[in-house]
Amino acid sequence: MSWRVPRAVQLAKAKAKAVATVLRTGVAGAVFAFVLCRLIQDPAQADPPDATPATLKDAAHGLFDIGVGLSDRIAEHPADWPLLTTQFNCVTPENCMKPAAVQPTADGFRFELPDQFVAFAHEHKLRIVGHCLVWAKDDRTPPWFFRDGDQAVSKEVLLQRMKTYIDTVVGRYRGRIDSWDVVNEALDDGPNDLRPSGWVTACGDEFLVRAFEYAHAADPDALLIYNDYNNELSGKREKLIRVVRMLKDRGAPVHAIGLQGHYELDQIPFKDLEATLVAARELGVKIVVSELDIDVVLRGRWWADGGKYRDELAKYDPYRDGCPPEILQRQADQYAQLFKLFARYADVIDRVSFWNLHDGQSWLNYFPWNRVNHPLLFDRQGKPKPAYGAVIDALQSRP
Ligand code: GLA
Repeated sequence: MSWRVPRAVQLAKAKAKAVATVLRTGVAGAVFAFVLCRLIQDPAQADPPDATPATLKDAAHGLFDIGVGLSDRIAEHPADWPLLTTQFNCVTPENCMKPAAVQPTADGFRFELPDQFVAFAHEHKLRIVGHCLVWAKDDRTPPWFFRDGDQAVSKEVLLQRMKTYIDTVVGRYRGRIDSWDVVNEALDDGPNDLRPSGWVTACGDEFLVRAFEYAHAADPDALLIYNDYNNELSGKREKLIRVVRMLKDRGAPVHAIGLQGHYELDQIPFKDLEATLVAARELGVKIVVSELDIDVVLRGRWWADGGKYRDELAKYDPYRDGCPPEILQRQADQYAQLFKLFARYADVIDRVSFWNLHDGQSWLNYFPWNRVNHPLLFDRQGKPKPAYGAVIDALQSRP
């Protein structure tokens, strides 16, 4: 895609030309140049109407922010900056602010990468989403959190560790990070409301309440989010509503629900999504769509029937030489349908963030097996795909 020379630069160049005309042509030229400068000051007279298409963040202006999950090392990749800063106004670090990266052991915090990320985002005037303070899964929580010597940790010690962690991390970036995924993925995919974990074993549901309280105390101005996957689906949505209601009833400052939005082509749960947007409105919380993508090399069978298709799927890479146009068109149509829905619920939706900048950087090239995937709006060269134009059109034909 070609990036336009900003209008201010165009005008300055035009004025410089007019002045050069004065110097070359004497009085008659000066009169002519004066008239020309007046015209240049009035863009409506001087320029034809702007035919350049809006970017994502411009098209969504007044509806919601447009964000993106980014490599922790974006500051070292200037080739990505033009696409990033032209299209998006909000960024989430992909990994460097997760507890396993920030405090992998009890003996100290690691802020080198998060500090770099935050400095980069500030320099480029991008809002930052902190992700995430508590990832309520055992394999995503540094193991030392749950141990106390050779014993399982007590509730008091675990909550104190969580408080120290949240105070330190949220406090460090107070005023620079304005929203936090406070708890990630606490809902159970099985029969329970909460996923069994070291958190639940030690604290029951109290760890959720405290996480939001500690985050609010550390930065009273930050938007605090409960984030999860598949939480718009009927079954998990009811758990989500119960948990958010419980948090609110107990006075915990939960401000928004994060719907990760890792969808698969032809399987986007539009009805469930709309029901969740309605439920959020009733609960009095905002929605953020936090990690949006539309997988085209469908992954659902990876988990089906006890994993019996995994050997077959591990070799499945149908679009390694490119994605067929008809698939790209279906993806475009479904992205458009999503953004039309989001636009209709803009009173509830605070932000829509994609998960990664372009197809070449998507986690879906590696998860749950290696394949060449095409889930985003920009291809591997950062060029817009059909879905890009479809999303812009959907946003511009807002209701
Ligand atoms: C989840 C997490 C993200 C990221 C993605 C996969 O959705 O919330 O931080 O790890 O998985 O990249």
